[in-house]
Amino acid sequence: MAFLTAAQQHAYADTGFLPRLPVLPEAEAADLLARLEAIERAEGGRLSAASNQKPHLLFPFLADLVRDARILDAVEGVLGPDILCWASGFFAKSPHDGKRITWHQDSTYWGLSAPDICTAWLALTPSTPQSGCMRVVPASHTTDQLPHRDTFAADNLLSRGQEIAVAVDEREAVDLVLAPGEMSLHHVRLIHGSEPNRAAHRRIGLAIRYIPTRLRQTIGSDDSATLVRGTDRYGNFHPEPRPANDRDPACLAFHAAMLARTQQILYAGAAQPGRDRQ
Ligand code: NI
Repeated sequence: MAFLTAAQQHAYADTGFLPRLPVLPEAEAADLLARLEAIERAEGGRLSAASNQKPHLLFPFLADLVRDARILDAVEGVLGPDILCWASGFFAKSPHDGKRITWHQDSTYWGLSAPDICTAWLALTPSTPQSGCMRVVPASHTTDQLPHRDTFAADNLLSRGQEIAVAVDEREAVDLVLAPGEMSLHHVRLIHGSEPNRAAHRRIGLAIRYIPTRLRQTIGSDDSATLVRGTDRYGNFHPEPRPANDRDPACLAFHAAMLARTQQILYAGAAQPGRDRQ
């Protein structure tokens, strides 16, 4: 990936997303998938909900990936030169597991001070209409924060099973088709969701949430993030350690404390405690 063109920057500003940006060669995406699957095997077949929150604080190959210039060059075109990685996590749907993602805006429960948050969604397997790729409503990021209701539905991959409390016109939605190694970028207010995986293969992507350093956490003041490019002149987030090896003991305690803090932010005011948010 290279830096965004002016046309791409305008397209992101107008529509709230950029589709299908080539980032990694397919062989490199296959290698990332193999590494993820090795972790899944070590954890008994699936990544635990805890390990899937900011896994870049636990595994060096993901610490490298969230700092990868091929991703950040594009993100810089949206957020400017001073960039924090605020979160990451895999979104995995197995064939016919029925898991879906209801229409929502990511900004609903994150507590950040401004909607200047860009998600890089990197595909590790083909993400297609059949495998349940992300669908977005173009230009919906220009609407304000919409009300959401919590359903806690068992087939929903989201933390609260949250969905937008007003009707979304499905005819306006666009499929974000990605080959392994391609990514899309999307704005935190963009309305998006996805259907179940009806393909024969797993559908897996890593979502990396980037923010400019000027943002701050508004639900409580305690939050952390990783500076991945430029300079942090604000200091609004605790710096995060970088793992030297898998499950680096020096990072595990930090990760556990981060999980506890994040639960308080994500479930502030929720009717039920948090469940698996993979
Ligand atoms: Ni989302």
